[in-house]
Amino acid sequence: MPVDILVGTQWGDEGKGKLIDVLTRDVDMVVRFQGGNNAGHTVEIGSERYVLHLVPSGIFRKGVRCVIGNGLVVDPVALTEEMKGIAEKGFDVSAIELSNRAQLIFEYHKRADVLNEAGAGSKKIGTTKRGIGPAYADKMHRCGIRAIDLTAPERLEPQFRTEAAKYNKLFSEHGIAQLDIDAEWERVKEAAAYLAPRVCDTVYSINAALKEGKKILCEGAQGALLDIDHGTYPFVTSSNTTSGGACTGAGIAPQHIRDSWGVIKAYTTRVGEGPFPTELFDEAGEQLRQVGREFGATTGRPRRCGWFDAVAAHYACMVDGINKLAVTKLDVLDSFEKIAICVAYEIDGRITKEFPASIAELQAVKPVLEWLPGWQCETSGATCWNDLPENARNYLKRMAELVDSSIAVVSVGPRRDQTFMV
Ligand code: IMP
Ligand code: MG
Repeated sequence: MPVDILVGTQWGDEGKGKLIDVLTRDVDMVVRFQGGNNAGHTVEIGSERYVLHLVPSGIFRKGVRCVIGNGLVVDPVALTEEMKGIAEKGFDVSAIELSNRAQLIFEYHKRADVLNEAGAGSKKIGTTKRGIGPAYADKMHRCGIRAIDLTAPERLEPQFRTEAAKYNKLFSEHGIAQLDIDAEWERVKEAAAYLAPRVCDTVYSINAALKEGKKILCEGAQGALLDIDHGTYPFVTSSNTTSGGACTGAGIAPQHIRDSWGVIKAYTTRVGEGPFPTELFDEAGEQLRQVGREFGATTGRPRRCGWFDAVAAHYACMVDGINKLAVTKLDVLDSFEKIAICVAYEIDGRITKEFPASIAELQAVKPVLEWLPGWQCETSGATCWNDLPENARNYLKRMAELVDSSIAVVSVGPRRDQTFMV
C-alpha cells in the first residue's frame, strides 16, 4: 500500500497539522521524518485546540500509530512533557514509536543555539532556540547521541557527561553559565525511563506495515523554503523539509511513495530572519497577521506576512513533486478589495521566474505583482468548491496554475469541518 507525504511548501506554518488531522481519517500510521520540537502543529477538534511539537498529528485518531522517525532530533525532556500532556487529555500515547536512530537534543544544544544566535557563531537566523541546529551539527560531526541509548542509561550517562563537559568548556570561553551536569543528568535519566518503552526500530515497523498493506502518511514539518538544501540558506532550519526527506528520514524507499501533498497558505508568512520578497510592512500586512492570527505556535512571535509568492512556491512544488495542493486560510483574504500574487522577480532590472540561490539576489528582489479582484464576502462557511465565490475560485485557480499543480483540498477555517476536498 502506498505512502503519501505531506509537506509545507512555504516557510512553515501553512496549516499542516490541521491537514494531516483531516487526512488521517483513513490512515494507519503517521510518521514524522525530520526536524524536532521547533515545529508547532496546531490541531483544532471541536472547541479544543492542541499544539503538537514532536508527536505526529495522528495521535488524536484512535488506532493510528504515530512514528517519530530516524530523521528527527528529539529532546527527550520535551517529548516526555508533551506525551504526558497528551495522556492527561485522555489520548493513548502508547501509539507512539520513537526511532532508535533518532538523534537526541540536550540542554547544552539549546544553550549553544542561544549562544550562536547571540553572535558567537555566524549570522542570526532567528531560530526557535530549541537546539535543532547544534543537534544536527553533532549528528554530522558524529558526536551525537541516539535514542537507542535511552534504553541503556549506563551507556547514555558517560556519553552525555562527555558531551556536556565539552560544551561547558565552550560556554566558559564565552562567559556564559555552565550547565549543572549532575542536575541535568537527573532530568535526562527520568525522561529516558519514561521514553524507553517507546524506543524501537521504526524502519522495520514502518516497512512491516507497508508489507501488510497499511496506509502511511509522512508528516513534514516547517516548509520547503526552510530546507537546508533548497531553502533560503543560511536562513533555514537544519533538515530536509522537502518530500525527499521522507525517504531518508523514515527509511522508506522511493518507489513506495504515491502522493506528495503540498500545504500552501493563500498568502505567505515567515518567522525568523531571512529574505522574504513579498513581505508587507503596511496595513495589508497587519491585516493578514491579525485576521490570520499569525503568531508562532512554538515561540509566540508575530509572523512576517505578505502576498502569495508564486515564484518561491513554484520552486518548492517542483522540488517536492507536489501533485495535490491543499490551500489553507483562504478565508483570511475575505475582506480584501484586491489581492496580489507575485508572479515574477525583478532583480537588478532583470525579470525572472526562477527562485535564486543567492541570498544577496533574494534580498534585492522587487516582486512583480499581478492584482486579482477580491470577493469581499465570508468563505468560512463553504463546504465545497461551488460554495466559494467566483473570484475566490479564480484566485485559487491562478495559484494552482502558477505553481504548476492542482488543488485537492481547500480550507477556510481552523476547524475539522472547515476543510473540504475539491
Ligand atoms: P530552527 O529550526 O529553530 O533552527 O530555526 C531556523 C529557522 O526556521 C528560523 O527562521 C525559525 O523561525 C524557522 N522555523 C523553525 N521551525 C519552524 C516552524 O515550525 N514554522 C515556521 N518556522 C520555523
Ligand atoms: Mg507551525
